[in-house]
Amino acid sequence: MTTNEEMLGRADVNDLEAILSITSADKHDVIHAVKDNADAIFTWNYEKGERPALNKLYEKAKNSQWNGETDLPWHLEVDIEKVAANAPRDPEADPVFVAATSPSGPLHHWGEKEWSEFVIESQNWTISQFMHGEQGALVCTAKIVETVPWIDAKYYASTQVMDEARHVEVFAKYLDTKLSGHYPINAHLQMLLDDIISDSRWDMTYLGMQIMVEGLALAAFGFMHQMTADPLLKKLLRYVMSDEARHVAFGVLSLKEYYGELTDAEMLERQEFAFEAAVRMRDRFLQQEVWERMGVDVRTMIKLQLEHGGNKNEDPFQQLLFSKIVPNCKKLGLLDRNNGWLRTKFGEMGVIQFEDWVDTGSDYESMSLEALASEQADEIEVA
Ligand SMILES: [Fe+2]
Ligand SMILES: [Fe+2]
Repeated sequence: MTTNEEMLGRADVNDLEAILSITSADKHDVIHAVKDNADAIFTWNYEKGERPALNKLYEKAKNSQWNGETDLPWHLEVDIEKVAANAPRDPEADPVFVAATSPSGPLHHWGEKEWSEFVIESQNWTISQFMHGEQGALVCTAKIVETVPWIDAKYYASTQVMDEARHVEVFAKYLDTKLSGHYPINAHLQMLLDDIISDSRWDMTYLGMQIMVEGLALAAFGFMHQMTADPLLKKLLRYVMSDEARHVAFGVLSLKEYYGELTDAEMLERQEFAFEAAVRMRDRFLQQEVWERMGVDVRTMIKLQLEHGGNKNEDPFQQLLFSKIVPNCKKLGLLDRNNGWLRTKFGEMGVIQFEDWVDTGSDYESMSLEALASEQADEIEVA
């Protein structure tokens, strides 16, 4: 069995020094190159619809394209200070902030001004990471077009490439025209994207991207969509989510077939990869770049976060981010194979309670733009 050391480069998941040592070496370069180590696969089997669920998804995707320039209300002004002032903020409910604002804590001197700046910077950081993650999805899906052996999957993946280009485009435009600054990619997120891209096995791109990264993104977008008071961002997120739900479904439907045929040893490698991805994603939410920009000692803040949440993951928001990933992993057999290896790991991370939530194999229909249009028609009728 692979150890934490081999999977994560550290024996203790919460090793502060190891977490802080992960930095992006080329953070000031415009270009970042990764070897993708895979063969481009041709297939001479052009039988469209051989995999009916994927074919249905492909047909759906063709009719669900939208235009990031013209379908969103870019004319709306965004008052970031007002949005920050209205952001729900309850430091007393969060044990990390309770400790950080105590008289000996690193944020003891924070007043309204600092909190407001922090909310604005967190928003800049979050949307920046969404944008970088979207580029990861763009590159991964282009790779899937090349590496997946089934024609229905190549067809579908090609529509996802277009979707992801649109997502990068709209998040970049929102950052440039409505917010107050970009952040470079978080080092933990970059490490995860690099691991996904450099793996030679075609299904690992799906597992890393469609199941783990996009599963988390779908939950995070849903959460932000609910919380934001900005109507432009709300609509942007809802549109992006309608695509993302299809993407996660694409992962679930493709891997369900493939994972049924894998041996225990092969499945264990997938379980370990899913766990590694989960830890990297948790690490990125420590948002060390924001603390740096706020002039707060990063080491002290990360230490507090690890002590008060960390591996136990006590924060309900952090837990909710796994609400799509865990049921999808269950559906794929990843939780239970090899004596429940991943079930134990997700239990230790405090996220196993989501295992029986709806998986995303089919709920993309309810998140589609058509479903949104009929919800809105109902609202108008009620009004
Ligand atoms: Fe996306
Ligand atoms: Fe996506």
